Amino acid sequence: INIDLPDQQARKETAQTLKISIYFATWWALNVVFNIYNKKVLNVFPFPWLTSTLSLATGSLMMLISWAVGIAEAPKTDLDFWKTLFPVAVAHSIGHVAATVSMANVAVSFTHIIKSGEPAFSVLVSRFLLGETFPTSVYLSLLPIIGGCALAAVTEINFNMIGFMGAMISNLAFVFRNIFSKKGMKGKSVSGMNYYACLSMLSLLILIPFAIAVEGPQAWAAGWKTALAQIGPNFVWWVAAQSIFYHLYNQVSYMSLDQISPLTFSIGNTMKRISVIVSSIIIFRTPIQPVNCLGAAIAVLGTFLYSQGNKGNKK
Ligand code: 3PG
Repeated sequence: INIDLPDQQARKETAQTLKISIYFATWWALNVVFNIYNKKVLNVFPFPWLTSTLSLATGSLMMLISWAVGIAEAPKTDLDFWKTLFPVAVAHSIGHVAATVSMANVAVSFTHIIKSGEPAFSVLVSRFLLGETFPTSVYLSLLPIIGGCALAAVTEINFNMIGFMGAMISNLAFVFRNIFSKKGMKGKSVSGMNYYACLSMLSLLILIPFAIAVEGPQAWAAGWKTALAQIGPNFVWWVAAQSIFYHLYNQVSYMSLDQISPLTFSIGNTMKRISVIVSSIIIFRTPIQPVNCLGAAIAVLGTFLYSQGNKGNKK
């Protein structure tokens, strides 16, 4: 038996690595498809508050149906759970709508280059608001992250302030979402998939009144007519695809968060941005300059250095 043990252990580890690789590949692929359809929709229907709301509504509906027909087991929640979820949902709504507003105003690649600066926001918030300290190597990694994002931003051909600020606000909101999520998931029996389902539903309720106030049904109806006339019935499928894929990629990302450390998660998220940046540049034929690419590459490299420097910090 003893002779077999290392073998069994190795087999277990291989199975776990395979499982996480499948999660990651699925997460990135779903995210690339979401980003492409989201931008295709926004190009002809520039209403990011509505498309954000539709993504959350579709995800909520998919999960309610899954619970009703028994594909997934509904979680047992109490008032305390929803109270703890509330700040997470506020941050999720803000981060989601801000990223979508950004993508409505600039190239998808530009939004994601700025969003690759999220670890810098994480360190600054943790340091100055929560009083956490980090190894010097982590602080040093902020230089290429911030410098690379800044270089990419100032050399962006189609720079737009709303697009830039949207991605920055999204970074800040998602840092808070992740901090509150970690607290909310700790010690709870709700699975990653169901936690994200509840998060979608609460975020949807928060977002609806704001979406109506900012854009409103009249503008939506007029815009929808124009988009349908321009694209034809396929437009409806684009909207459906962006909504469904938004839910699926987030669901898989929360399911993988269940299995891996936050550090591995953040490395996965950065690698995801590389695939989105590259594929969206190819598909939308985004004009880019070499110095712009250099900025993006420095920022992404900074995130890898950040992950290396932050290895000891598994909180
Ligand atoms: C959104 O619309 O919520 C963003 O595209 C999400 O950004 P993420 O890549 O950080 O999930």
